[in-house]
Amino acid sequence: MASKIFLALLFITYVVAASAGNFNQDFEITWGDGRAKILNNGELLTLSLDKASGSGFRSRNEYLFGKIDMQLKLVPGNSAGTVTAYYLSSLGDVHDEIDFEFLGNLSGDPYILHTNVFTQGKGNREQQFYLWFDPTKDFHTYSILWNPQSILFSVDGTPIREFKNLESKGVSFPKNQAMRIYSSLWNADDWATRGGLVKTDWSQAPFTASYRNFNAQACVWTSSGSSCSSNNPSSNQSWMKQSLDATGQARIQWVQKNYMIYNYCTDTKRFPQGLPPECTIA
Ligand SMILES: *[C@@H]1O[C@H](CO)[C@@H](O)[C@H](O)[C@H]1NC(C)=O
Ligand SMILES: *[C@@H]1O[C@H](CO)[C@@H](O)[C@H](O)[C@H]1NC(C)=O
Repeated sequence: MASKIFLALLFITYVVAASAGNFNQDFEITWGDGRAKILNNGELLTLSLDKASGSGFRSRNEYLFGKIDMQLKLVPGNSAGTVTAYYLSSLGDVHDEIDFEFLGNLSGDPYILHTNVFTQGKGNREQQFYLWFDPTKDFHTYSILWNPQSILFSVDGTPIREFKNLESKGVSFPKNQAMRIYSSLWNADDWATRGGLVKTDWSQAPFTASYRNFNAQACVWTSSGSSCSSNNPSSNQSWMKQSLDATGQARIQWVQKNYMIYNYCTDTKRFPQGLPPECTIA
């Protein structure tokens, strides 16, 4: 009896810690002086940008590995010059970071989804994509699966990028520093749209991006340790071992063939001394 109650308590603790999905509970607004809003009892969050300021939020928890989904609906209409960033990051000089950044565009012209991975303070691993849908019409799910073997970026369940753990080949991999989730909407018209040629049209402000259905199956990190290391019998951590299966491989190839517009791994001009090691390991 006592052990049943104990198991039930463990289960409840895990569920609350691992996948709550309420913005009031899981996030805090960090800047923007009222431009970021949590609405509908925590079901919806909106960020806005005008000439005076952008806005942003971050997760209350820090995570060390997880499968994290968020639905975003990006700034509609003429969003040129605006950037909506959604990323995981640790703190400090040798921080790790996993980035999605959405670069706005003129009405009818395509957004760019810009991705990057920083390990030990070093990035320069950009890959950019067009999307196969209009990301401003509806909410779409942007996911990061981060486990000890790899980092997988997905859009509506379709993998678009994998960063494998190649520590055995001397490439550092994020696995010791807990990260928070951050998001912000700001003006970056010096570079975002067509390399900075198209500026933000402030007559269209305020610009607004929306968030909903946050879901994290993740290891919450606190000073007393990780929610995953407690040998919790009822927590399903199958995501910890998940890797790209054959279907995933085929999908990622489809995306990279049809929608990828920049890949640092093929930019030989940028790396005259040779491509980064993770690019040349099969
Ligand atoms: C914006 O549209 C132009 C023209 O189609 C395209 O070249 C560019 O890649 C698009 N995206 C951004 C963010 O500049
Ligand atoms: C764990 O989760 C995965 C994916 O969500 C599911 O396929 C699997 O059946 C689950 N396993 C258990 C033991 O609940």
